[in-house]
Amino acid sequence: MDYLEIEGGARLSGSVSISGAKNSALPLIAATLLSRTPVTLKNVPDVADIATLCKLLQNLGASCKKLDKNSLTINTSTVNSTKATYDIVRKMRASILTLGPLLARFGHCEVSLPGGCAIGQRPIDLHLLALEKMGAQIQIKDGYVVATAPNGLQGARIVFDKITVTGSENIIMAAALAHGTSEIINVAKEPEVVQLCEVLALAGVEIEGIGTDKIIVKGNKGELLNLKEISVIPDRIEAGTYLCAGAITNSEITITNCTPEHIIATLDKLEQMGFSTKIAQDSVTIFPAKEIKPCEIITTEYPGFATDVQAQFMALCLVANGVSVIDERLFENRFMHVGELARMGADIRLNGHIASVYGGKELAGADVMATDLRASSALILAALVANGTSRVHRIYHLDRGYEDIVGKLTSLGASIKRLSE
Ligand code: EPZ
Repeated sequence: MDYLEIEGGARLSGSVSISGAKNSALPLIAATLLSRTPVTLKNVPDVADIATLCKLLQNLGASCKKLDKNSLTINTSTVNSTKATYDIVRKMRASILTLGPLLARFGHCEVSLPGGCAIGQRPIDLHLLALEKMGAQIQIKDGYVVATAPNGLQGARIVFDKITVTGSENIIMAAALAHGTSEIINVAKEPEVVQLCEVLALAGVEIEGIGTDKIIVKGNKGELLNLKEISVIPDRIEAGTYLCAGAITNSEITITNCTPEHIIATLDKLEQMGFSTKIAQDSVTIFPAKEIKPCEIITTEYPGFATDVQAQFMALCLVANGVSVIDERLFENRFMHVGELARMGADIRLNGHIASVYGGKELAGADVMATDLRASSALILAALVANGTSRVHRIYHLDRGYEDIVGKLTSLGASIKRLSE
């Protein structure tokens, strides 16, 4: 198995280009199931989760042709199976994004029920309740969601009890092909959800309220769509991660090809911590702080502070001058990195979903283990400032969502190598 070896202490400089957003590319790839014509996607990040979803579509009978590292064309006109099997879904929970489109298009499907994962239980009850509201009959059988809608899905009024990103995406895709109009209330407003709506709207689906918490989708009466070429939006979580790399090493770096508007909460928190930034149309430069101040963070839905940059900010808080408090409100177990950061000398005290991070302690290089995607990047960030050498193991988590992180950090001047055990 591969691991990363990082020598701490290097200052970073220069610029790094942000890749396309994994969490936008995934629903967009699932949405190709709604298209009667082949769809080309550009700016797709070259990461393992994308390959996994393409494999799932290929298993269903679709073709996924890679045009180059970051573009692919998907043709779902040849789909001849509606079963998303356990062997793929267990690798990636986002496979559940095929549920809405498969059911809307074929009137039946079986999608393996994703289990819990390292960061929490992660139920999908809200996806299922919403589909039932649209007329689906759903059973859980042998670990699979078995869904049927013999007369097609019907437009419905859906009120989500909680804001769910992939739940919203699933229902928006289902509603796009349904018979009648759906009103979806308390829908997620994440940029990834907005891009999905925009892509469907470009294909002729009438959607009102895009980017707000209530959208109205006029279904296409079971008729497939003609999705146009898509360019995936920049990855706001990757952007936040590299800004944290600049911040933790107190360096000046620039991230390019990003959408600053999508990372306002991240930028605001960095400013509270003493970093100044220069924001241009599609780039952000972060400058060193005179003093790195502690901060308070509460993770919440967009446009609030994203849970997906919580771990990275926890690493950053380790170099702040004082105690930071991080309240993780989205997932019940998203502090797995705490024990690993402690191996490097971090002093972090947990009380339920609240972590107090005692900044300013010397960090020392150590062997640490990645436990999930964002935890992995937090360990790398801490290793960048630890004294001596760190080795980050189980980096398959990292490969799921960060394109070429070794190449990108090396280009900024970090000392990082990928090695095999
Ligand atoms: C998406 O996961 C992202 N994944 C996650 O990114 C991200 O952390 C999360 O949204 C929150 O922003 C993708 O977009 C592929 P949710 P998702 O449904 O949709 C509860 C990363 O690192 N809930 O918005 O699965 C749930 O337990 C990742 O890239 C229910 O109770 O998250 C959680 O507490 C990991 N019932 C909250 O809602 C449901 O049916 C939000 O989860 C659905 C969710």
